[in-house]
Amino acid sequence: MIDVSSSKNNESNDNLTDEFKVTPWQVEGKIDYNKLIERFGTQPITQSILDKVKKATGELHPLLKLQYFFSHRDFDWILDKYQEHENFYLYTGRGPSGMVHMGHLMPWMFTKYLQDKFGSNLLFQLTDDEKFLYAQTRSMEEIRLYTYENILDIIATGFDSKKTRIVVDTKHIQYLYPLASEIAKRITFSTAKSVFGFSNSTNVGMIGFPPIQAAPCFLPSVIEGKPTPVLIPAAIDQDPYWRMTRDVAERMGYYKPSQIHSKFLPGLGMSGKMSSSKPETAIFTSDEPEEIEKKVSAAFTGGQATVGLQRLLGGNAIGCPVFWYLRYFFDTERESDERLLKCKSGNLLCGECKSDLAKGSKSFITNFKKRREKAKDVIANFMYDGQSYGK
Ligand code: TRP
Repeated sequence: MIDVSSSKNNESNDNLTDEFKVTPWQVEGKIDYNKLIERFGTQPITQSILDKVKKATGELHPLLKLQYFFSHRDFDWILDKYQEHENFYLYTGRGPSGMVHMGHLMPWMFTKYLQDKFGSNLLFQLTDDEKFLYAQTRSMEEIRLYTYENILDIIATGFDSKKTRIVVDTKHIQYLYPLASEIAKRITFSTAKSVFGFSNSTNVGMIGFPPIQAAPCFLPSVIEGKPTPVLIPAAIDQDPYWRMTRDVAERMGYYKPSQIHSKFLPGLGMSGKMSSSKPETAIFTSDEPEEIEKKVSAAFTGGQATVGLQRLLGGNAIGCPVFWYLRYFFDTERESDERLLKCKSGNLLCGECKSDLAKGSKSFITNFKKRREKAKDVIANFMYDGQSYGK
């Protein structure tokens, strides 16, 4: 595989300054993922960890191989536990602030791979309260609608209904609240301020929210009646929650939750992650084929201003969101490596990549929509009801 691991990779614009900001509510600037590992005090995913995963699963998921998941905490510990026949739960989630796009699906597809390979139970949290509390203008009604739509996407991802339970914060709070209270009691305002950057003007709902997102880290231990390892696949911006949770875990008699952190999928626009707030730069699971076609043809690329210059100078694939979409979603590793070389040498024009991406995305979304329709009939099977799994 070609080495594309420089810290510059995955960015769609080289003109931004080095400043970047990553919090659970804001991702801005040109992100240096190596610096983020240092800043957050996480570990890089090394070859020896990849070897362990391969030994346990037989095959490496492309998102691991391509370093989309690039950082972790105690992932190696989880793998060791698994080898010792101590099974782990998976926990992931979504803030239902809008419709789901392809960037959201990547960690979910990866979580499904983990569920399939390790036979893990999965808890999937929808933090409708968080999204209500954070936004100035979003009504509960609007969030309820997105919560429903997002549940269809979660189910359409293909999780095992016997091994997957969804918790919607405002609906299933009775299962979370006892744990959240135990957690909250152990966290001071001063810690919350320094971990999350809260200030005097933050509303108290937001200040009180983090223990609600922490609670599912320990719910598996309650369900199983013994300390139970939990692995959280999530984008790196969620890390502050897990830092806080790890701090209190052992004092509460639980294991610290483990994490595996992903990067962000670049948006189709000039810079930044794929964002629901810029709908023209993201491909949503609800998009019609014509919309996908339009968005892809308007996408920013790493190409030169003219065909002549492109042939002469070659393109900047590493800084091209179209390249990264194709690499993560539709190309095999070999196809992607070849695409990179052809682009750099001026033998590939942006039109061709865009046409490959439009074709791939249209057929992917068409299939996904069919699964979404079917999901409507099985929602009840996926909702957490306070019982153990499997029924
Ligand atoms: N706070 C997350 C968001 O805004 C949602 C979430 C809740 C989550 N629990 C999680 C994400 C666990 C990843 C893992 O999207």
